[in-house]
Amino acid sequence: MTGFELIRAFAHDATVGVVVTDPMIELPGPTILYANAAFGRLAGRELDAIVGQSPRFMQGRETRRETLDAFHRALAAGERFHSYLTNYRADGTKYRAEIDCRPLRAADGRIENFVSFEREVLRRKGRPAVNAAGRYEPSDESKNVLSGALHALGVFMHS
Ligand SMILES: Cc1cc2nc3c(=O)[nH]c(=O)nc-3n(C[C@H](O)[C@H](O)[C@H](O)COP(=O)(O)O)c2cc1C
Repeated sequence: MTGFELIRAFAHDATVGVVVTDPMIELPGPTILYANAAFGRLAGRELDAIVGQSPRFMQGRETRRETLDAFHRALAAGERFHSYLTNYRADGTKYRAEIDCRPLRAADGRIENFVSFEREVLRRKGRPAVNAAGRYEPSDESKNVLSGALHALGVFMHS
């Protein structure tokens, strides 16, 4: 079983958004090969309208270029990318997404896919925080029984 198949099996009913792409990071890639239903709800689109696209389709006016450049550098280096991006739904509404993206490697070390766990976060009320980790908290829909499992896997954890 490949990493992709394993992720697809456990992500199917998960309430966190899970999206898997091929490893081609240069335009027009990466191409989305799989998205779970929770990702469809987060992105505000039918899965048919997501699979086959590049994740760039969610970007808009307030998506920060510097963050995307850092994303691109992490993908090119085969490193984890954990950050926050402004994404847009099909109806034009925007949301703040926490993104935890990792390479899936074959036994020989070659990157076969990228997988990203994505959830909506809201700006915390109160004092301004020094970093993004303190500034955002998961939205109510993002807090669920899977949180414990994601925690155990280190997903959305700050290193
Ligand atoms: C698995 C995966 C999920 C991604 N999800 C998003 C996303 O939700 N929003 C976004 O703006 N970019 C996302 N990206 C990043 C874009 O696909 C692209 O890599 C980014 O815009 C930087 O590359 P560019 O400088 O060529 O645009 C994702 C990439 C991968 C591999």
